[in-house]
Amino acid sequence: EKGGYEHFMLKEIYEQPRAILDTYRGRLLADKGIIRMAGIDQNLEKFLNANRIIIVACGTSWHAGLVAEYIFEDLARIPVEVEYASEFRYRNPVITEKDVLIAISQSGETADTLAAIKLAKEKGAFVFGVCNVVGSSIARETDAGAYTHAGPEIGVASTKAFTTQITVLTLIALKLAHEKGTLSQSKYHEYLAELESVPSKVEKALLSNPIVEEISNIYKDSPNCLYLGRGYNFPVALEGALKLKEISYIHAEGYPAAEMKHGPIALIDEQMPVVVIATRKGHYEKVVSNIQEIKSRKGRIIAIVTEGDVSVRELADHVIEVPETSESLSPLLTTIPLQLLSYHIAVMRGCNVDQPRNLAKSVTVE
Ligand code: F6R
Repeated sequence: EKGGYEHFMLKEIYEQPRAILDTYRGRLLADKGIIRMAGIDQNLEKFLNANRIIIVACGTSWHAGLVAEYIFEDLARIPVEVEYASEFRYRNPVITEKDVLIAISQSGETADTLAAIKLAKEKGAFVFGVCNVVGSSIARETDAGAYTHAGPEIGVASTKAFTTQITVLTLIALKLAHEKGTLSQSKYHEYLAELESVPSKVEKALLSNPIVEEISNIYKDSPNCLYLGRGYNFPVALEGALKLKEISYIHAEGYPAAEMKHGPIALIDEQMPVVVIATRKGHYEKVVSNIQEIKSRKGRIIAIVTEGDVSVRELADHVIEVPETSESLSPLLTTIPLQLLSYHIAVMRGCNVDQPRNLAKSVTVE
């Protein structure tokens, strides 16, 4: 049932090229320049007339929501707020009929997310679901939605659900950008083609596995780890840290790279591994200077870079390459080595990778 893999998590990491393809199959018609999604097509006016989009989710799904915030604002110019479902529902939020709420949930059963949906519906907002489990409570409770079609995710740590959530949300953002005219025709077509090439690029990113395994062996006994990224890759830093925490029980924190100097830099010494996402498109120079700051404090740098990178290679202790893509799609690639890193470290520490202590696959308690 694990298809020859030692753990479901590893199987699911390796399923991502296929899962992403399944997510956009029949929806992304790149050569025709069309994105077809029933749940969006039938409710297009709701999205186009929305004052703002509120995204609610928990955990990894919340991180996918953060990536979506960058894409929606950047490409479709729609204001977005991303909220932890548990905070949103209890803080007497301002919600109107002009709001669209997107709830993201792999399981479709997360209690806080479900409660946030009910609240938004009461206030008259249009509620859209991005779920993986077909027929789940959230899928049934929402006004419309789009499934991720990632296939069953058994490992408690979410992997393919995350990348397929981002894929669905990217399709929606591109579709809305096209309808609104916030993206030029040529850019739109470029994005469609680029999105279509993501599965084969994820396949390439997976080739980093042996290097990631070597790096894991060096840092497996570290008590702490920092993850840094900027822009689209800031949520990826959060997600990398969450993966390490939940399956290897190493304390890890994700930060926007620029926030480092406002506090966390005090933690850096020769014992501290710092994972930095430093791909070429997206604040590259700024990230390089952050790397210099870490280096001068003797932190150990593990950098995720674009294929063929030279500048970061000179500074970092280790580099892990991912293929080049547009900045907006880069989270789909930079996430891959971080999943593998947490996986290998957890295995080396003898942890129960598929069923980490204290965690459940669906959190139906509030
Ligand atoms: C992380 C993880 C959790 C879930 C969170 C939300 O790997 O699995 O943080 O992402 O419990 O679950 P869903 O997406 O099912 O609502």
